[in-house]
Amino acid sequence: MLMISAQNIQKNFEKLEVLRGVSLDIQKGEVVAVIGPSGSGKSTFLRCLNRLETIDGGTIEIEGEKLVLTGAEGIPKYAEEAKARMICRKMGMVFQQFNLFPHLTVLENVIEAPLTVKGVKREEILPEAEELLRKVGLEDKLNSYPSRLSGGQKQRVAIARALAMKPDILLFDEPTSALDPELTGEVLKAMRQLAEEHMTMIVVTHEMGFAREVANRVIFMDKGEIVEQGTPEEVIDHPKQQRTQAFLNHINEK
Ligand SMILES: Nc1ncnc2c1ncn2[C@@H]1O[C@H](COP(=O)(O)OP(=O)(O)O)[C@@H](O)[C@H]1O
Ligand SMILES: [Mg+2]
Repeated sequence: MLMISAQNIQKNFEKLEVLRGVSLDIQKGEVVAVIGPSGSGKSTFLRCLNRLETIDGGTIEIEGEKLVLTGAEGIPKYAEEAKARMICRKMGMVFQQFNLFPHLTVLENVIEAPLTVKGVKREEILPEAEELLRKVGLEDKLNSYPSRLSGGQKQRVAIARALAMKPDILLFDEPTSALDPELTGEVLKAMRQLAEEHMTMIVVTHEMGFAREVANRVIFMDKGEIVEQGTPEEVIDHPKQQRTQAFLNHINEK
């Protein structure tokens, strides 16, 4: 089953062409790692998929439903608001900077969107939220405020919060980039577990070890284009394109 079909996505910020015809199909259960230099359009691409940014050209279908279509006249046409929101709710997103609500406890952070966006009953969502927090190893932090947590714990709350909306697809934008190295492992572990449960995931990451081990497919983006894609072995170990080779050499030197 095709979960995401993005065709020829174009996005400009003023005169800057940030996405220059990006096309990507993702099947159910696939884990796709997106790598590439800073400024290549990785975050913008994820943000276009769930309508945090609107596109300037192209077509996006999520689980067969049309979020936005660009016809021959070249003007992208989005689904009507209620429909577009429904479609985007199939995707959860985890950000580099966690984006937790500082004034809410861990548990309240996790139940907030199901309560307010979906109208799920409190007694229904509470046990689910507790179960999700147990799953990410935070059962003893339910009543803590985010300021009392480490970065790795905050990111695990953010993952539980995304899961509480029962998405079919998770988008991760450099989920470990803001973490001290010793805390990345606990977040990657939670993500690996989701991959094992066949969650469909797109992960923008610099963690080549994770990409190699968990991703079914690696995509290298540069300057608003997909330059190369394939298995981790193909792209990370035997890149064909000069730009991919240069990028990987550059990371390895760090
Ligand atoms: N809201 C915005 N307004 C203007 N320019 C932006 C905006 N968001 C991103 N950009 C620019 O778009 C380009 C791609 O950014 P981004 O998608 O964040 O790249 P990446 O995630 O690969 O580092 C960069 O040049 C960035 O400065
Ligand atoms: Mg980015």
